[in-house]
Amino acid sequence: LTLEEKAGQMVQGELGYITPDDVKAFNVGSVFCGGGQSPSTGNSAADWLAMYNEFQQAALGSSSGLPILFGVDAVHGHGNVESATLFPHNSGLGAANDPELMYAIGQATAKEIFATGLDWNFSPCVAVAQDIRWGRYFESFGESAAIQESLVKRYIEGLQQFNISATAKHFVADGATTWNKRNHRASGTLYNPDAYKMDQGDARISQKELHEIHLVGYREAIAADVDAVMISHSSINGVKLHGHELIQSLLRSELGFQGIVVSDYESIHQLPGDFREQVIRAVNAGIDMLMEPRRWKYAINAIVEGVNTGAIPEERVDDAVSRILTVKFKRGIVEQPIKTPDLALFNAEENRRIAREAVRKSVVLLKNEGNVLPLPKDSNVLLLGPGSDNVGMQAGGWTLTWQGTIHKEVKGTSIRQGLESVAVENGGNVYTSRDDAAKADVVVVVIGEIPYAEGVGDNGRLTLDSATAHKNNLQALADAKSTGLPTIVILISGRPLLVTNYIKDWDAFIAAFLPGSEGGAGIADLLYGDYDFTGKLPMTWPKTAKQFSETIYKRNYKERDYLYPFGYGLQLTD
Ligand code: GLC
Repeated sequence: LTLEEKAGQMVQGELGYITPDDVKAFNVGSVFCGGGQSPSTGNSAADWLAMYNEFQQAALGSSSGLPILFGVDAVHGHGNVESATLFPHNSGLGAANDPELMYAIGQATAKEIFATGLDWNFSPCVAVAQDIRWGRYFESFGESAAIQESLVKRYIEGLQQFNISATAKHFVADGATTWNKRNHRASGTLYNPDAYKMDQGDARISQKELHEIHLVGYREAIAADVDAVMISHSSINGVKLHGHELIQSLLRSELGFQGIVVSDYESIHQLPGDFREQVIRAVNAGIDMLMEPRRWKYAINAIVEGVNTGAIPEERVDDAVSRILTVKFKRGIVEQPIKTPDLALFNAEENRRIAREAVRKSVVLLKNEGNVLPLPKDSNVLLLGPGSDNVGMQAGGWTLTWQGTIHKEVKGTSIRQGLESVAVENGGNVYTSRDDAAKADVVVVVIGEIPYAEGVGDNGRLTLDSATAHKNNLQALADAKSTGLPTIVILISGRPLLVTNYIKDWDAFIAAFLPGSEGGAGIADLLYGDYDFTGKLPMTWPKTAKQFSETIYKRNYKERDYLYPFGYGLQLTD
């Protein structure tokens, strides 16, 4: 390969800013779709497959003849694509804490990615989240390293067993950044790229915390032979990870990672110096592939110039390119670049079955006074609340759009649909108007958070009426209370919210996290008692706003200090 061809392999452009002709002309190594991106022709699996093969065909015509890796954030199933099976987000899967379920989810996700041609998943996030104000909390399996040990390896094995490259992210300690209320923008409102965001903030941690808590997911990922590691936007003790010597000393040397180190979205722009200097710093720090959605061409030139001026050793470029090509050969993309998958793999019944099982295992029963649960199947249920009939709210961020959506139709089963499908077969009824309270035996209220992603989800208050909370939460609770009926509250959210002042009015309380497209079906399975609850909280549920960053790693952690401690969860038989 020429130096220009090598430099081309080391960059990743984003759909919309790079064309198949660009890939051919510049030997670009990878293309990706960012959150919410989809082919210009439409958003079906077939549209994606056609797009993939068009880019791949062009890559084969480049001077190097090398195929691309095509990446996407299929972080809870292939969420960009219409009608994908959407699994619970990771904070719920942490509550399920079932390694074999993770393997099945990894495999099912890989099948749906493969059905669209793509070959690289920017997942799993292995953050060990220490503060529930973090907008990415739902992407983490929770606060304990032990759950990372249990789940990460099997999920990655599930993905890669089907030849889809996995990515452990974001290296390292992205889940330990501190809340910085002083200059924190009004959380959850407009996405202000210039303001401080926790996911681009600073983790002030000791070596002990780094090794014993935040590195655990990477050890598991490397043991699973993960193909890629993505560097975090954030800093450690004031130093940006994208230029940090930890990439070389810790990730490559101590942990022995042999795969691709990829930068996060334009994150090298936060390094000191002009763009040329940022590229030199990042590549010399050990980054092999630059996720430069728009400036991929400048990045190629900066690498070539860097080598020609001696600023970047050519051995570093050779090392990066060999890691990239090793993955392309290992995943069979060189042998078979053009894909002809069975489109029936997409949203297959088996995948939805796995997702429904994951919902049942990820939902946590936190209160059940007077055994108001399980509901008799012929119950007359009054169903209220903003989350009662909204698959988009069940799905959360990274769904059809980057931020997720409660306004667009998201394919799946809502809680209303899930309850109705049981009630009608058993002589029960589901009423959705407050005026029908007199006909009902019980009221189910579904409240929670609106979808969000990354910095937009940062929230310093976490009350039921704060920025990421749905604006109709309190009204729904007031309506329910005014009926005088036994009250079951279901919270759809990426993380705990402050419910301390309301819980006394609730006979039953369920944390459903972000259950995804099969959320209504799986929750109905539990409410009507076809299955018992098994979920246990993978995080501490605070009683007060002072406890947002208190986890099991707090010295003399006392379970009674919190509304619900780490590991708490009831069964119907309790
Ligand atoms: C974002 C996220 C990262 C994601 C990438 C590509 O900045 O930090 O998790 O994989 O962009 O969408």
